[in-house]
Amino acid sequence: MASPSRDKRDIFLSTVRAMKGREKFACLTVYDASLARVLEAAGVEVLLVGDSLGMVIQGRESTLAVTLSDMIYHASCVSRVRRRALLMVDMPFMGAATPARALGSAERLMREGGAHIVKIEGGRAIAETVRLLAEHGLPVCAHLGLLPQFVHKLGGYRAQGRDSDAAATLREDARILEEAGADMLLLESIPSALAGEVTRSVRIPVIGIGAGPACDGQVLVLYDVIGVSQRRPRFAHDFLQSETGGVKAAVEAYVRAVKIGAFPAAEHQFS
Ligand code: KIV
Repeated sequence: MASPSRDKRDIFLSTVRAMKGREKFACLTVYDASLARVLEAAGVEVLLVGDSLGMVIQGRESTLAVTLSDMIYHASCVSRVRRRALLMVDMPFMGAATPARALGSAERLMREGGAHIVKIEGGRAIAETVRLLAEHGLPVCAHLGLLPQFVHKLGGYRAQGRDSDAAATLREDARILEEAGADMLLLESIPSALAGEVTRSVRIPVIGIGAGPACDGQVLVLYDVIGVSQRRPRFAHDFLQSETGGVKAAVEAYVRAVKIGAFPAAEHQFS
C-alpha cells in the first residue's frame, strides 16, 4: 500500500548510496506497525521486513514456509506507518524461482506491500533475475553468504566463505550481481576480512549481519536485539538486556508490583 506523507528527511536508495564510505547506516527487521514507528523514531535508516518472520512471528523452524502473501501482509503493516526509512522486503522461498516469477513477485511486494527494494537470496544464480528486475526499474538487494532459504543445501545455519575457494566464489558473485544491476548487497555470516574486501570492491552499499564491522551498514533481527527470540545467534546482541534489563525484567517487575499491590497505582485508576 502507498505510504503516508513523506518526511523531509526521507531515506532513498540514493541516500544510502551516498552514505557509503562516509557514514554507517542501521537496519533492523520489523514486521508490524507499532515497532516500525519505534524503530523510525530511534533513527533506523532501513527497515527490513524479513522472512525471518517465519521463525520469530510464526514460530517455525525455518523461513521456508513463509509465503508471498505473508510477506505482503507484514510489509503493508509496516509501510502503512513508515514515514522516512527505506523499506526493504524479502522475496520468500521460491518467489524468485524463475526471472519471470521474480518479476511478478517483486511487483506485488512493491505494489501491495509498499516495498522500496526487494531482497533476494542467492549468488550468481540470480544474476539473470537481478538484470530483469533492474531493466524494469525494480530495486534489488542480493543476499550472499549464509542463505537461510537454502539451509538444507547448506547443511545448517553455518558461516560461509571460510575457505579460499568459497571466498573466491563469493567475491565473484558480488561482482557479477553488481554488474547485473543489484542496488545493494547483504552479507550474512561470513568472515569479517572477506566482508571488508567485498565492501571495498563494489560501489553499491553493503549491509552485514555476522559479517564484521567493515560493511557499510549493519542489520539484526529485532527480536534478537530485544531479547525475545528463541535462539540468538552468536553475532547478535541483546541491547535491551544490556541497556535496561530487558523485556523479561520488565515483566518480572510487573508481576512483583501486582503481588505487593504497588500496581495499579493512583495514576492507573479511575475515580
Ligand atoms: O529474514 C531476515 O530477517 C533476514 C536477515 C537475517 C538479514 O534476511
